[in-house]
Amino acid sequence: MSVPEIRRVGVVGLGAMGAGIAQLAIEAGFETVGREVSDELGSAARDKIAHFLQRKVDKERMTSTERESALGQLSLTTELADLADCDLVIEAIVEDLDAKLELFGALEGIVRPDAILATNTSALSVTEIAAGVSTPERVVGMHFFNPAPLMPLVEIVRAELSSDEAVEAAFGVGERLGKRPIRCHDTPGFVVNRVLIPLLNDCIRVLDEARVSPEDLDTAMTAGAGWPMGPCTLVDLVGIDVHVHASEALYEKLREPRMAPPPRIVAMKNAGLLGRKSGRGFYSYD
Ligand code: CAA
Repeated sequence: MSVPEIRRVGVVGLGAMGAGIAQLAIEAGFETVGREVSDELGSAARDKIAHFLQRKVDKERMTSTERESALGQLSLTTELADLADCDLVIEAIVEDLDAKLELFGALEGIVRPDAILATNTSALSVTEIAAGVSTPERVVGMHFFNPAPLMPLVEIVRAELSSDEAVEAAFGVGERLGKRPIRCHDTPGFVVNRVLIPLLNDCIRVLDEARVSPEDLDTAMTAGAGWPMGPCTLVDLVGIDVHVHASEALYEKLREPRMAPPPRIVAMKNAGLLGRKSGRGFYSYD
């Protein structure tokens, strides 16, 4: 399969991950089209990106001119049709297979035949998502980590039918975004989540087993194991619902008990304690 030179990048879904990916793309100088389902959600994402770029200016990591130029690279839309000229579209919508299959099917009818379609899924199978289109060779995983602008890694995931060209083009984009891309195959959890999800579930179980508070568990893992942030702070950042969903998806595929979400965190999800985004998780946020 021949792939285009990547100049124009589409990002579908401008939530925490999509907005972060769009920020990376405009900072790297790509013309970027961000698609959200409403103008309000699109504007909120742009405001968030503008805020983080302003913080970089304040800290002299970027000039005001560079900030303006980056923001000028971002256009927003609610119409998928506006992604027609994109060379690469990165999907960052809800972690729901049916929603992704519908989106990829629609995108296939909109973008050029040589455009690459990437998914930022963290727990679904890229191969299953690719099965929703008639040209699965152009589908790859580009799995970013939260917060996307800060975390250096991006996993470039080869699905069963991904072409070498699509994988290498996605890898090249990862490098141009200033990331440290790695190549891996489409196995449940890829690399990091295959290790991190059961580890975080163990941490949550230890809360009850050792009768330790979230604060003390976080201190234990930062001060005793050198983690940059404690497990409770991290799950609050990622989102309790996102963590539960990823755990369930991995458990469904691997049937390993450590993958299953502990009842304590499922109860938190059911109660609407979703972490930072809902204002309350293991901790409270203003
Ligand atoms: N987007 C863009 N910029 C952001 C941001 C965001 N979401 N969050 C913070 N920033 C910017 C801010 O401008 C901030 O500076 P100010 O507070 O002065 O405005 C700047 O980044 C630095 O932030 P911090 O001072 O908080 O940075 P730090 O040195 O404390 O590091 C961290 C923060 C990189 C997140 C670090 O704590 C860390 O590495 N934590 C671990 C995170 C992790 O493990 N993530 C993986 C989660 S798992 C996952 O994502 C997989 C999945 O599929 C669910």
